[in-house]
Amino acid sequence: MIKKFTFGKPFNTFSCVLSVAECAEEIPFGTVETTAPAKSENSFAYTCALKPEDIVFGLGESVRGINKRGFKYVSNCSDVPNQSEDCESLYGAHNFIVISGEKTFGLYFDYPARIEFDIGFTQEDTLTVRADTADIALYVITPDKSAHVLDDIVTQFRTLVGRSYIAPFWAFGYQQSRWGYRTEDDIRSVVKKYRESNIPLDAVYLDIDYMDNFKDFTVSEEKFPAFKSFVSEMKTQHVRLVPIIDAGVKVEKGYSVCDEGEAKGFFCKKEDGSYFTGGVWPGNSRFPDFLNEDARAWFGAQYKKLIDLGIEGFWNDMNEPALFYSTESLADSFKKMESFKGKNLDIQSFFEFADISRSSFNKASDYRLFFHQIKNDDGSVTKVRHDKVHNLFGYNMTRAAAEAFDKITPGKRMLLFSRASFIGAHRYGGIWTGDNGSRWDHLLMGIKMMPSLNMCGFLYTGTDIGGFGGNTSRDLLLRWLAFGDFTPLMRNHSAAGTREQECWRFDHPEDFASVVGLRYRLIPYLYSEFMKAALNNTMYFRPLSFEYEDDKRARSVEDELLVGNDLLIAPVHEQNAVGRMVYLPQDMTLVRYHGNAVTEQTPLAKGDHYVSVPLEDVVFFVKKGHSVPLCKKNASCTEAIDYSSFDVVGDAPKGTAITLYHDDGFATDVSLEKGTIAIKQ
Ligand code: GLC
Repeated sequence: MIKKFTFGKPFNTFSCVLSVAECAEEIPFGTVETTAPAKSENSFAYTCALKPEDIVFGLGESVRGINKRGFKYVSNCSDVPNQSEDCESLYGAHNFIVISGEKTFGLYFDYPARIEFDIGFTQEDTLTVRADTADIALYVITPDKSAHVLDDIVTQFRTLVGRSYIAPFWAFGYQQSRWGYRTEDDIRSVVKKYRESNIPLDAVYLDIDYMDNFKDFTVSEEKFPAFKSFVSEMKTQHVRLVPIIDAGVKVEKGYSVCDEGEAKGFFCKKEDGSYFTGGVWPGNSRFPDFLNEDARAWFGAQYKKLIDLGIEGFWNDMNEPALFYSTESLADSFKKMESFKGKNLDIQSFFEFADISRSSFNKASDYRLFFHQIKNDDGSVTKVRHDKVHNLFGYNMTRAAAEAFDKITPGKRMLLFSRASFIGAHRYGGIWTGDNGSRWDHLLMGIKMMPSLNMCGFLYTGTDIGGFGGNTSRDLLLRWLAFGDFTPLMRNHSAAGTREQECWRFDHPEDFASVVGLRYRLIPYLYSEFMKAALNNTMYFRPLSFEYEDDKRARSVEDELLVGNDLLIAPVHEQNAVGRMVYLPQDMTLVRYHGNAVTEQTPLAKGDHYVSVPLEDVVFFVKKGHSVPLCKKNASCTEAIDYSSFDVVGDAPKGTAITLYHDDGFATDVSLEKGTIAIKQ
């Protein structure tokens, strides 16, 4: 059951699609204190007690464990190039949590600005959710069923916020990206090497360098003299190109997107009505007012320029929005720097001086300098200061693109994912988890984030495989790919200046061919489970405790995940490990994949096992009595996946019908009824 409690005048975030009547009862489980709106800080506080055995799940994209207890998290979409375990905020703002214990219930705080979740950080036994203004819609969700209550709460929540985005089938293939591909030839050679090494590939990404001087919706003629024919040349090789689009639009006279946006008044303005200018990749940039529906439609229509050249997918970036500086903060930095001129820079002043140039980076005060023009139903416009709706910016950039795609390519699925997000954005696109590093702990962080993201509706998601920042190593990349085999978005991406990390660059590319090849053999299962999760409002990745709710051990397992209905994965995430301990919450079959083949199927009993996992192997587990189909042939791209015959792993009695969701992979009109097929073993 979902109960809604409203405080003040909540801003309509459009995160919910169901309308729930206001509840007149007392708030169950916790208490809310609000203070006069005039008070500028912590006007809203929700508090509830936590018992020692309670687990708190949720918060989507956030650091630390699957169980969020013991830390303070802040929903405040942030550009965090150096993610670490103590980052309170990442790129997304996902205000949904579930408290699981003697009493199990979900809480969704529908609120568009900064909001803090102190989950037993200040006081071990207390959960406090604080916001600056008391204009919040709070949804409290209790189970309708007596079993699988966590799944039930999530499904109710996901029904409230609407069906998750569904990517085209090709986007379930392996994808290669790098901030550093500059020319057609760079890309041709990447594709050629993948094909020569027999490592499957479905897409290559175009990072900011494809543009003409970092201008959105332009293509550098110098680097891509015949872009349209290059896009189709790649398609004949079954590779799609996926360009990046940034939130900031370069300020430049004669650049149509800038000129038009300015003429129409579609960029964010300051208090005095002049345009706000912030620095991102192109230098001085304007920020489209994505919260204004006309500006959204206008920006969305720009994607047509690239779609007309054959593009079928995009990634939206820098849309927290990231701000390296504003005109104002830059002026302030220069002024401060001046004040140090001629002075003896001692221990104190030197470090103050050194920090100045970075002090303008994503500065909180800059987000208070510009405004959105929100159109009301009666046509009037309300001016809202950006910081009050900050977490909706990236979400509405995704919405701008998705709403435009419906018009530009009606009936056809497009690939779309974003860096910044809010709940609601999950209906329009996926997300990737942003700028991680080539570090073992970031592999683990990605594993833990997946179920929390699924709870919040983000199903089409994945991490930068191999790590974005820093230099990856062969072992880290192989282990990361073995996890990435199971993430709907399977993309290897890295930053400019780091070690190149395309799979074929490392010794024994045949090991990579096997690990990535497994993905393609599993795609019929993975795609089917993804579609079921999207169409049933369920989770694709689940913590063990969601299914084995009476199993105390399962409640504390943080580095194993259930994938769909039949599989369990326990990725190796430690350097030098040649295996790991795995807890099985029920009897399962261990499946080992090595050298492009299933080499072992061993039944294991419920309990703890040490499982050896050499670097070139992938091991996963199938529940007893279940079977999972694997395509018979190795495919080099999703188009080559053969649904006509399968091998199966697992121990379902021979002849048991296996049903899969399968469709043309493109149509937006999808349903379980239309897509269910029975397959031959
Ligand atoms: C941001 C993105 C990253 C991209 C880079 C350059 O850091 O998160 O993925 O490669 O910008 O566009």
